[in-house]
Amino acid sequence: MTFTENFEGYELIPANIRSQVLKARIAMYREWGVDIMDEETWQKREDLLESLEFIKGNLTTWIFGLGLEDGGLDFHSQFETIRRPVFIKRKGSKNVEILDSLCIPTYTCDKEFRGKGLGIKMLQAARSKMQELCSVSILHSDVGSGFYSRYGWDSYPLISTKISVASNQFEKSNDTLFFNKELARIISLVDSKMLRTDMSRAETNDSTVISVVPEFGHYEWRNVRDNFEGQNCLNVKEFSENYGVLYCGDQTEAILRSKFSESLLDGVAPECPSFIMWTHRFKENSLLSLRARINHIDHIVPLINAALQEAKSCSLSKIEFWNFQTEFLGFLEEKFNVESIVMKKSLPCLALFDKNPDEKIEWLLNEQVSFV
Ligand SMILES: CC(C)(COP(=O)(O)OP(=O)(O)OC[C@H]1O[C@@H](n2cnc3c(N)ncnc32)[C@H](O)[C@@H]1OP(=O)(O)O)[C@@H](O)C(=O)NCCC(=O)NCCS
Repeated sequence: MTFTENFEGYELIPANIRSQVLKARIAMYREWGVDIMDEETWQKREDLLESLEFIKGNLTTWIFGLGLEDGGLDFHSQFETIRRPVFIKRKGSKNVEILDSLCIPTYTCDKEFRGKGLGIKMLQAARSKMQELCSVSILHSDVGSGFYSRYGWDSYPLISTKISVASNQFEKSNDTLFFNKELARIISLVDSKMLRTDMSRAETNDSTVISVVPEFGHYEWRNVRDNFEGQNCLNVKEFSENYGVLYCGDQTEAILRSKFSESLLDGVAPECPSFIMWTHRFKENSLLSLRARINHIDHIVPLINAALQEAKSCSLSKIEFWNFQTEFLGFLEEKFNVESIVMKKSLPCLALFDKNPDEKIEWLLNEQVSFV
């Protein structure tokens, strides 16, 4: 590639030829896959993920490089976007709208081309392009807050809380129920509806409130990806069917199911139980919470006990939460031996492209469910 310092003739386009997509994937493999799998396995993994509802029709690979006379592109920098819905309630409005956002799971320049301004130039181009296509973009930065903030992605704090199996006493209580994939889909619909209802009822006159819609497709994508790694790279032999655990109190599964059906009817105020939705993150030896809804402080201990039991039975050494509901973090630390750290990597960043200068943004569900 001829590298031109002023980037004259550079374009940002969606990769529209399969060979461009595969080339971009290799660049991503070199960055994030090489430690755990070979290139062929990585391509297989990406093919598998492409077939899931979360990705199908929602993933775009963007390539940035020098336009060629034959219509091709000489590129060494690339990123991906995944389209996913967000709830947004603008400052001063009473309505919760649902909008498409573009989330960025990967962003990279080939090693030989780093430190020459290419990454920031692509970001500038990405910002202009995305502004035309959507109003919200989310990413998790591994390069601190300064890089992405230059073009409008503001960073938010991230606290990781880990609870180890070995240093806690636990037993499963009858007040909790493990649920599988099929029930996870229903719970996520009720959870989303309740989140939207709560957002529309909340008094939020001084800020705009945004949340990704916590969809089943996201949970499935994370679980399929981790199970693929477990099976193909980490020699895991047995897999749990459990997608999570919910707090049921004295209600049977049949009663819960009929309440869920009712909750999803038009005009009915939804009732979603407290729950933890997770993925078995074998690579990190962790049961990773993707979403934790805690409706009442009394539900925390039974849910965490059940999650610790799940981790133990899957030979995982800990459970991990990102930004556990702030009002309950102190209680969690009181009841369990936990390790909470302020993260420097995976910093959540959000851009609202038509933000007014004084518009404050509150980002709800700033946990793993927002991570792609
Ligand atoms: C991050 C990345 C895309 C930047 O591309 P690049 O072409 O090297 O960046 P640029 O030359 O345009 O640098 C622009 C600025 O970002 C800063 N920057 C670059 N990489 C950085 C990093 N890893 N951490 C913090 N700041 C970084 C540079 O210092 C520079 O700042 P300056 O203008 O004040 O000197 C590239 O380093 C990369 O591919 N890294 C590996 C993959 C990765 O971590 N991607 C981000 C995942 S969230």
